[in-house]
Amino acid sequence: VTGVQTCALPILEVKLNKASPELLKTPPASMSDVVFGTKFSDHMFCMEWEDGKGWHNAEIKPYGPLLMEPSAMVLHYAQMAFEGLKAYRTDSGENVLFRPRENFKRMNRTAQRMCLPELDVEEVLDALKQLLRLDSAWVPHESGTTLYIRPTIVATEEAIGLKVSSKYLFFIILSPVGPYYSQGFNPVKIMVSDKYVRAVPGGVGYAKTGGNYAASILAEKEAKELGYTQVLWLDAVERRYIEEVGAMNIFFVINDEIVTPQLTGSILPGITRMSVLELGKHWGLKVSARRISIDEVLTGLKDGSLTEVFGAGTAAVISPVGALSYKEEEYQVGNGETGPVASRFYEQLTGIQYGKEAERSEERRVGKECRSRWSPYH
Ligand code: PLP
Ligand code: COI
Repeated sequence: VTGVQTCALPILEVKLNKASPELLKTPPASMSDVVFGTKFSDHMFCMEWEDGKGWHNAEIKPYGPLLMEPSAMVLHYAQMAFEGLKAYRTDSGENVLFRPRENFKRMNRTAQRMCLPELDVEEVLDALKQLLRLDSAWVPHESGTTLYIRPTIVATEEAIGLKVSSKYLFFIILSPVGPYYSQGFNPVKIMVSDKYVRAVPGGVGYAKTGGNYAASILAEKEAKELGYTQVLWLDAVERRYIEEVGAMNIFFVINDEIVTPQLTGSILPGITRMSVLELGKHWGLKVSARRISIDEVLTGLKDGSLTEVFGAGTAAVISPVGALSYKEEEYQVGNGETGPVASRFYEQLTGIQYGKEAERSEERRVGKECRSRWSPYH
């Protein structure tokens, strides 16, 4: 069974151009030495869009360079959107996705903000599954590893005047990955930035678009030089309210309340964040999405009422934070170790994502789109 032609009702007609056997690469035998996002599978999905024509030329083809002129608009003004989701290998050898429709829906919200053409969620999900069936050998087996999926839309019209592009390319590439942070599921140290801001009200903070990440690189570089893994951003107006971390949303456990910043338009509405909120509610814990100031965090750290900090994201999964630095002072969180709340979310969430039998009932409660099968064998 190759799985490639098994989709009973392909929604989108996808041309299949397989890499010739001598060009196929070997997936890494072990993921332990593979740096996140540096290896790519054999194939990619591409589709073009043009004014008056819509999406066309859907094709799965060998992974390789894109043909684009230096004047392609995305290279100048960053009119683009991207997503990040993962495929997981379950113990029974099945390959599954986690809430993939949420990613494509968010991609459409980014597309609206960045004036990009929207996608048909079901069509692109179907195309993704076809690509995954073809490259299913690239889903790594080791515990804690996954196949990271990167859908991207870029403006390709050849023009350097600033306007809405009339041509776009959508592509999906696949990258086998281990943990995002070298620490794995161990506490990271985070630096609160009071020097730079990531996103402003009315800007593009809620969109998953390259410019947000380009704007964060200098702060992240400076934080790394000081020994911190990532930056925790404050709001751009008062530099007082917590927003999010470079590649994850942030949660605090204060007096048994699990708090994450409310969505203000300047932070990314994380799918992992949403899942943590849903799981916490389902467990009967007190979970809130509300404004939280850096003063409240520092007070809680000093008087011991703030017991845990953890990040949540697709790449980062659940990432405990062992220390925070603010205005050149470092504050340890609890005893600096992974706390019980972060551990519980990590266990449950990865249990759902990797399809462990015991989690099946929880899985349904976290949303019926939680897992989407694409195994060629089911
Ligand atoms: N915030 C930022 C800036 C991110 O890049 C990510 C990762 O995509 C997240 C939060 C978490 O979002 P999600 O859980 O959908 O991956
Ligand atoms: C994610 O997909 O989880 C990201 O944060 C994107 C990237 C920075 C790895």
